Amino acid sequence: MKRVFSGVQPTGNIHIGNYLGALKQFVELQNDNDCIYCIVDMHSITVPQDPKELRKHTLDVAALYMAIGIDPNKATVFVQSDVPGHAELSWVLTCNSYTGELSRMTQFKDKSKGKESAPTGLFSYPVLMAADILLYDCNIVPVGNDQKQHIELCRDLAMRINNKYGETFVIPEGRFLKEGARIMALDDPTRKMSKSAENPLSKISLLDDESKIKKAIMKSTTDSEGIIRFDIVNKPGISNLLNIYSSFSGITVQDIEKKYEGCGYGDFKKDLVQVTSEALRPIRERFEDIRNSEELIIALKEGAEKANAISEATMSRVKERFGLGIGK
Ligand code: AMP
Ligand code: TRP
Repeated sequence: MKRVFSGVQPTGNIHIGNYLGALKQFVELQNDNDCIYCIVDMHSITVPQDPKELRKHTLDVAALYMAIGIDPNKATVFVQSDVPGHAELSWVLTCNSYTGELSRMTQFKDKSKGKESAPTGLFSYPVLMAADILLYDCNIVPVGNDQKQHIELCRDLAMRINNKYGETFVIPEGRFLKEGARIMALDDPTRKMSKSAENPLSKISLLDDESKIKKAIMKSTTDSEGIIRFDIVNKPGISNLLNIYSSFSGITVQDIEKKYEGCGYGDFKKDLVQVTSEALRPIRERFEDIRNSEELIIALKEGAEKANAISEATMSRVKERFGLGIGK
């Protein structure tokens, strides 16, 4: 059995792009792998957060994970700051990383662009991410393409330390999401659907009600050809809607094209509203139950205990290799 680890930030508004591109895979992976899913609240404080909101989002994301089908009896789900090993290992890795390599991270460059000075946490964000991964001896890290550089850094750090201090870490591999899984913004299908987009109709969040789903889909940008056909280059809007339809219904894009031959965009969109609403309704209903339940807190506590046991074993190995502490 392979060990799988992934992290997601506790930000609000998880959208169908996150779900179809990433979270759905997390659910599938839990059946044949030893999966560890972490809500990375310490990554979130690399930018200012309102404490009340942060805690709310952390619990929201945890409840949403369970609402989409992540089963705490199969996978380990926990909150990063509940396991002290992340911060501990992060420091050890920091001491083995270079300002040069961290300055080359495109996410850091984007987030600090034009600023004379940036928060140190933003700079060392990828080191904390490497600690998340290496702490659990994991084999596979399912993430989006935007995380490729961070995974490469994680592997470099692990190999560097293994070479210098002896076998310490398992070298993980990234499993990157296919481009096909990328869901585009509904108001502008040339851009990725994004949490931070200003127009609320550009995305559908997993907890949106039917009237919001309807509005966003019916108003979505298409083209003037009037033919339901998959063509990313010339018809990015319709292609995106076809992708969403196919992902939620399990019907292939080709079969959907056939089904809607001779139909207009209006009818197709109406059906897509239906398909999307039906897929999201049970998630929304389960979310409400789980979010307010004692079981959520119990599951997260148990998850943190399991994670802590693995983390302590890794940290004790790391401390031996580095000569930290008073020893065994
Ligand atoms: P983020 O919201 O950027 O933190 O992303 C969380 C996860 O969802 C990552 O694995 C992303 O690659 C994935 N993701 C984010 N936006 C999209 C999108 N529009 N389409 C597909 N996957 C996405
Ligand atoms: N940086 C990741 C993202 O923005 C989130 C993350 C933090 C993560 N630690 C991780 C992902 C460890 C995978 C493994 O998507």
